[in-house]
Amino acid sequence: MILERHRIHETDSFCDEALERLLDAHPRDRLMALSTGAEPTRPDEWRLALVGDAGGRDLLDAVRAGRIWLNVLQVDKHHPEMAQLRDELFEEIGAVLPDLVRSSARLTLLVSSPGAIVYYHLDAGPNLLMHLRGTKRLWVYPALDDRFAPRAEVEDIFAGVRIENLPFDPAFDDAATCYDLEPGRLIAWPQNAPHRICNGDSLNVSLAAEFVTTRSLRRQNVWLANRLISRKLHVPCRSIVDQGISAQIKSVGYRVARKARIDRTVPGHEYVAESRIDPGAEGGLAPLGHPVTVVY
Ligand SMILES: [Fe+2]
Repeated sequence: MILERHRIHETDSFCDEALERLLDAHPRDRLMALSTGAEPTRPDEWRLALVGDAGGRDLLDAVRAGRIWLNVLQVDKHHPEMAQLRDELFEEIGAVLPDLVRSSARLTLLVSSPGAIVYYHLDAGPNLLMHLRGTKRLWVYPALDDRFAPRAEVEDIFAGVRIENLPFDPAFDDAATCYDLEPGRLIAWPQNAPHRICNGDSLNVSLAAEFVTTRSLRRQNVWLANRLISRKLHVPCRSIVDQGISAQIKSVGYRVARKARIDRTVPGHEYVAESRIDPGAEGGLAPLGHPVTVVY
């Protein structure tokens, strides 16, 4: 676990006016709005909401009015200031992670409502969070432990074929480590550790950084090899050791199987939207006449 300080929140890049400009300029197909409930055991309340032609101010007003999570995807790719921030950040990360794959570095800007939650989930790759505005509480659970994340579901997360949310039991909290985050904190948790978040009572702004390392890629390939062997050949394959000769063989073997199209899994998530952003509507969301399916 890494808990550090940063000073990014002291710039004026994340004030309301700057966020409105950034949101206005951001490609709409890289802007994802999700509505959340208030109960961490109800991930079924996590729904896509269409952004439509809502501008930056509309989006911020809706986020303030509701319980909405706005993911500004690939923010570093579309805004030079964010690209510079990414390069500076990964210069430092590269100094402590020599096997970092530099080209994998990505930033996502997260703008979220007072009281919004992130449901219990795990991410396939390593990531870290820089908190910029508001307060939030983060719970982190033991990584790669079958009691907290069923193995078949983790395999599917590595394959990118399921949404990352996992079944949550409040009793898991006994094994969690809890962090209260304020602006200026940077936190990184062990790769694949399940986690969840609950925002405090004000608008939250954070930057999430995603990347891969040669070791994280090998771990992913080991899990994908296990998935392929157990599901296609029906041979139980349970070792998740990602270092040493057997991990190397599995990793290379999986890459060969992928090239030979023995594994034809196509990553992709299908979301069904039943509402759209509307700052004038209750909770910042207006119902759609009919559900709309979107793939991210
Ligand atoms: Fe996450």
